[in-house]
Amino acid sequence: MSGLQKILVTGGAGYIGSHMVLQLLEDKANYSVLVLDDLSNGSEENLAFTKDENFKDRFDLVKGNFGDADLLEKLFAEHKFLAVMHFAAFIQVGESVFKPAKYYRNNFANALVLFEKMAKFNINKLIFSSTAAIFGNPDSKYLPLKADAPKGPINPYGMSKLMVEQALPDFDHAHGIKYACLRYFNVSGVDPKLRIIPKENTEPTHLIPLVLQAASGRRENIKVFGTDYDTRDGTCIRDYIHVHDLCSAHLLALQNLLNGVESFKINLGYGLGFSVKEVIEKSREITGCAINAIDTPRREGDPAELIASSEEAKALGWHPKYDKLELILKHAWEAEKRKANYEEGKSDGRENGSTK
Ligand code: UFG
Repeated sequence: MSGLQKILVTGGAGYIGSHMVLQLLEDKANYSVLVLDDLSNGSEENLAFTKDENFKDRFDLVKGNFGDADLLEKLFAEHKFLAVMHFAAFIQVGESVFKPAKYYRNNFANALVLFEKMAKFNINKLIFSSTAAIFGNPDSKYLPLKADAPKGPINPYGMSKLMVEQALPDFDHAHGIKYACLRYFNVSGVDPKLRIIPKENTEPTHLIPLVLQAASGRRENIKVFGTDYDTRDGTCIRDYIHVHDLCSAHLLALQNLLNGVESFKINLGYGLGFSVKEVIEKSREITGCAINAIDTPRREGDPAELIASSEEAKALGWHPKYDKLELILKHAWEAEKRKANYEEGKSDGRENGSTK
């Protein structure tokens, strides 16, 4: 592995992290990648593409937790990393309400261990996965949300991420760690060439995978959580961003930091919102399948509307390629069909590296 262009990706076996690894390995900068992942939610299957002839000599996986100080000492002594992309975190909003310590410990306290070791080994570039959850339930006058919109998380998950964001300027000041905080809105879709068919160890909770499971027959119905919101059709509005575009923004953020840009924070979404009912209707069109939608009461903690301003990311040079709900759904539907076929005992095409 080349010494100079090596990136540490924590949580690189997860849904978003694995898509990031793919883009890093494909980038013309010829990065090499070491993934640190404890596989608590991610899966080695998501990284099957790294066996490709063009990638395998530039990729390594280490199983472990990013808060393990001894392991970090060993890794940082052995490898010279240009930057860290920190994806690893617990992400279930609902669970965080019942198990706050789990979220504060892993997402916040363990992140401090990572940053402290980065400082010790002079690794001074960091891309941090943050979230729209730091904005809580924003006043509609702030929509679409710019990076400096008021923060007010309404659950421990969002608070744990905001606490990291608040600590980072001190690491910049004390140790010169330059960071980019990227706040994800609703990340969906898969690699358009289907080199990753996302596998997670827990049941999906996000709208688009669930709607598509209802379309493929792997789920009986989709529950619509709340139809009495103050929105155009009464259901919640979200800004759905394709995982490919989300990752291309990370590459750009990395290049900016490497070019000497100061630390920054940006929101990542398209500036376009779709309601739950609109997502379901569009999914019926794309899949050609009947989708049984059942109106149910609100889910606790859901803000009515979350839309990102994309201006600040575009000012950095971001050019999203798949900024259409149709494309997100189309790619995710191809992956869902593979999974549905696989469950019926057929191959999902992953093991032969199919790029259909
Ligand atoms: N929804 C349903 N039925 C479902 C699942 C979701 O109606 O079965 C609705 C939700 O109520 C919400 C919308 O679909 O209105 C989107 O829900 P998701 O669970 O897909 O995503 P969230 O907007 O809740 O979560 C996202 C990120 C989180 C982040 C949060 C910030 O995934 O990491 O935005 O609010 F914390």
